[in-house]
Amino acid sequence: MKELEILNRPRRLRSNLILRNMVRETRMDKASLIYPIFVKEGQGIKEEISSMENQFRYSVDMLPYALEEIAKSGVSSVMLFGIPNKKDECGSGAWMQEGVVQKALMKAKSEHPELYYITDVCMCEYTSHGHCGMLKGEMVDNDKTLPLLAKTALSHVQAGADMVAPSDMMDGRVKAIRNLLDSNNYTDTPIMSYAVKYASAFYGPFREAAGSAPAFGDRKAYQMDYHNRKEAIKEALTDISEGADIIMVKPALSYLDIIREVSNEINIPLAAYSVSGEYAMIKAASKLGYIQEDNMICETATSIYRAGAGILLTYYAKELAKFMDEGRIG
Ligand code: PBG
Repeated sequence: MKELEILNRPRRLRSNLILRNMVRETRMDKASLIYPIFVKEGQGIKEEISSMENQFRYSVDMLPYALEEIAKSGVSSVMLFGIPNKKDECGSGAWMQEGVVQKALMKAKSEHPELYYITDVCMCEYTSHGHCGMLKGEMVDNDKTLPLLAKTALSHVQAGADMVAPSDMMDGRVKAIRNLLDSNNYTDTPIMSYAVKYASAFYGPFREAAGSAPAFGDRKAYQMDYHNRKEAIKEALTDISEGADIIMVKPALSYLDIIREVSNEINIPLAAYSVSGEYAMIKAASKLGYIQEDNMICETATSIYRAGAGILLTYYAKELAKFMDEGRIG
């Protein structure tokens, strides 16, 4: 019998489930998942976000119910976003001792101390104009915003935050936050920097959720231009030099190339944020019956890890933890 001359048969390693799992190149773990959660002023509130089905805004008193579910799912870290009652020009609600995130942290730490609490540090939910800092005319004043961000980060840590995550995209903010935390003896509190954050249409549902859409203009004068790739490396290295402990790329799905590039260049952990618009697209299409939601969640999340992220922030964290437990991915 004449021998076939196919020497490489990649199918050989795909022929059996155990074998497929053995030779997997991308491994992921529940420990790397972070679940974003919205906390709002008020009492007895659990309201669904209309553009993000199955995601809710909670008042502080209702937060423990959400945290319990998160803990039960096997997710151990959350990212807190605050929705205040009052807003002003300079966003003073962001650093108030009795601010919504600060109260949420105190409640969360006392009721669910087993979880790890990260806070988003930004002004946009707290300013009347919806921009991420103090305005000078129609522009955000970078240097005037820095002390406000640092004050906000400090107030979060004082209220119990385990880690802070600045998302404002002001230059020099990692350094400003690190300096203020250190001079208050919080030298061991890590900073996860939203270092590579693009000006993106994918944040639409979040802005509805948090009421943080800019009243005029857009965020293109501080968030990155999505045509740029090398600039991502520059942003990441700059923040590392200022003392960032973890670098984040955001959004995730349209930016897998950026995640790969940044992961090749840096030697500290890399996180990716699969943002509200990514969640909303999968939800909407699956509701219409055009795609199969579970499979989409698994495939898209895996692609983000495969691109080089070691940490994933996602509104699907609980579902992913379940799929990992079931061995569908991981
Ligand atoms: C705050 C912030 C935003 C997101 C995270 N932190 C919104 C924005 O920059 O406009 C987006 C998260 C998401 O879309 O899920 N600046």
